Amino acid sequence: MLQSPSSSIYADPEAIAKVVLFPGDPLRAKTLAETYLEKPVLFNSVRNMLGYTGLYRGRRVSVMGSGMGVPSATLYAHELYNFYGVESILRIGTAGGLASDVLLRDIVIASTASTNSHYCDQYAFPGLLAPAADFSLLRRAVEAAEAAGKRVRVGGVFTTDSFYNAAPAVNEKSRDFGLLAVEMETAGLYWEAMASHKRALSILSISDHLFSPEQLTSQERQDSLRDMMEIALDTAWTFAE
Ligand code: HPA
Repeated sequence: MLQSPSSSIYADPEAIAKVVLFPGDPLRAKTLAETYLEKPVLFNSVRNMLGYTGLYRGRRVSVMGSGMGVPSATLYAHELYNFYGVESILRIGTAGGLASDVLLRDIVIASTASTNSHYCDQYAFPGLLAPAADFSLLRRAVEAAEAAGKRVRVGGVFTTDSFYNAAPAVNEKSRDFGLLAVEMETAGLYWEAMASHKRALSILSISDHLFSPEQLTSQERQDSLRDMMEIALDTAWTFAE
């Protein structure tokens, strides 16, 4: 019987690549694996948090769902970094636009994430530990986006613990301080990467805007998700073996 080194992922460490793409939705992991990877092999199905490894342009890349929110994403990121030898995690997901010049379908790359999460309290850091992206991943993702002619914004995002927030002023404050978008995982992922001495980056597709009623058609939504996935795959390839 397989001896799995962790509790929430049941896999042989050899079955997971050094680079993992990390969408929130496990079914998006499945679609991505089936659409873009050659010979995708399922390595995890515990709690239906599907994870696959396959080849992208000849190099091994994995893709696994993170679930929603800091507790779920950090649990899986911690296990991938610390028990499965994963070096880089690229979150791909949707975010709500905050800044007025961030438009639906834009790609936002998070250089840092402000947050109301207290996940980092466990580290007892004497001050505020700023969650930060890995610069080499960030630079490569920007190059990939520019080479593909995609509109991309780089800046701070807000990682919220509550999608339905009883104090919506937090969105106005976040906008006022120049944060580009709101989502629910990036700060936790960046802290996990820093604590584990690994790399992380969030590449986000703007699916809605908190200060505009405009909505995407399902085709536009699919197109922008595809842009985000292709930028992430290009970036992953550079860091894959
Ligand atoms: N809030 C939090 N997370 C999100 C949103 C939002 O408005 N849109 C997409 N992810």
